[in-house]
Amino acid sequence: MFENKSGILLIGGLGFFLFSFLSNGLVPILMYRDLPEQTAEEVVNENILYQFEDLSVRYPESFQAAFGEPTLANCAEALRVGRKIYIGEGCWHCHSQFVRPVSNESARWGPVSKTQEYQNELQRPVMFGTRRVGPDLSREGGRRGNDWHAVHFFDPKSVSTGSPMPRYTWFYDGAPDKPTRRGLALITYVQWLGSWLESYPDYEDYVPIETMMENPLD
Ligand code: HEC
Repeated sequence: MFENKSGILLIGGLGFFLFSFLSNGLVPILMYRDLPEQTAEEVVNENILYQFEDLSVRYPESFQAAFGEPTLANCAEALRVGRKIYIGEGCWHCHSQFVRPVSNESARWGPVSKTQEYQNELQRPVMFGTRRVGPDLSREGGRRGNDWHAVHFFDPKSVSTGSPMPRYTWFYDGAPDKPTRRGLALITYVQWLGSWLESYPDYEDYVPIETMMENPLD
């Protein structure tokens, strides 16, 4: 068995499989199993509470029926629900949540993502995404108003000409100003993304134009 080619390939294949299983699976699990992980309640910050309250003012009846008062606990609950919807609706097929340190991505989306941003309940498993049909969403919070999101989820084309993003009319009781619990939760979730940064990135002049023009190979 050891003398012929297929025997060597078999043992090599199994060997490398075992090696990668150990190095990419087992070792990280053992290294990081005791790392503390923040709960949804712990990641509720002032920025997202502001947005959550804003939703309660804009859509009082829907909000009352869905979440009652805009408290911290209800906000954490909305984030959990919103994340589930984000997964269930397959938003991650078209959107990433990771600003990479390459290709001037920070000029488009804000600060490059850091590992500690992913160390909480709402990031397990991480929603890095698979493709980028739409923009990266890891700095989406605060970039648009809640009413913009409400209209956009109801009918993306009405605010973004030619958008290939599907309509999500089942997040509403008929009209874009009547979001359901799901609609409100999803808006809360997208407003949370990046809200943990010290301040919302200023997209107008985040990266000076000279930096963008620099040749990365210089
Ligand atoms: C078929 C691909 C596709 C799917 C599925 C999709 N999107 Fe999009 N999305 C896009 C594209 C393309 C854009 C950019 C055009 C636009 O604004 O509509 C976009 C834009 C957005 C924006 C606005 C970004 C900005 O500030 O300009 C948000 C927020 C968003 N999507 C969230 C979602 C969520 C949440 C879901 C799941 C419920 C979702 N998308 C599903 C493709 C998609």
